[in-house]
Amino acid sequence: MPQPILIANWKMNLSLKELENLANDFKKELGGIQDKDIIICPSTVSLITMAGLIGDSYLQLGAQNVFWQDSGAYTGETSPMILKEIGCRYVIVGHSERRQYLNETDEMVNKKVQACLANNLMPILCIGETSETRQEGKTDNVLHRQLISGLDSVNLIDQEQLIIAYEPTWAIGSGLIADPEEVERVFALIRQTLVNLYPLTIVNNNVRIIYGGSVDASNIAGFSEIELLAGFLVGGASLEVGKFKEIVKFL
Ligand code: PGA
Repeated sequence: MPQPILIANWKMNLSLKELENLANDFKKELGGIQDKDIIICPSTVSLITMAGLIGDSYLQLGAQNVFWQDSGAYTGETSPMILKEIGCRYVIVGHSERRQYLNETDEMVNKKVQACLANNLMPILCIGETSETRQEGKTDNVLHRQLISGLDSVNLIDQEQLIIAYEPTWAIGSGLIADPEEVERVFALIRQTLVNLYPLTIVNNNVRIIYGGSVDASNIAGFSEIELLAGFLVGGASLEVGKFKEIVKFL
């Protein structure tokens, strides 16, 4: 089983100066931790600066998005090859904000997952249902579809690592937290789908399943019973190192 992972998704928040200050705070407070993977995912334009800044600590760098080709006529896109060159190790793929506002489809998400693995980057594949989907009782179908499509033609081999982030869209940034019992049920579903796709040793050793959506110090305790939980993807509560540290301490 790989070690726990905590991902700080800073989204498009903060100025460059503020990002540098926050990264420095993270480095000071969390940069010495070796038994948990702590990943910061700042704005794409700041990645080179951030790579230099966290350089000699144990913090790791992640991007919030990527394109599926290494190079070519794709105006405005970000190459996975360059992310790797910068020093990124992880990439958030298929975040619900991108699916919602940028019309990212399962097919696009799948190409991005493949491009990450081809470039030795670890994809953080985000899946999650909307509140409408939940009300209609279609949560399991949607999650299954997102997972199967997202992992189409993805043969996890050797040391290739994958992170599945279950983030119900209605819980993101809303202060609403998913019921831990329901999260546990969904995690079991995700794991079963993975076991149907990959050998058990690969699922056990190469895949981590994490939760995201309004996670903070006040609600994480509720997740302590979830056996399959390998970490958290945190937005709002990652914008202050003190708040994030509480989550790190818990895991
Ligand atoms: P939140 O964001 O913690 O602010 O809900 C989580 C995410 O979008 O990854």
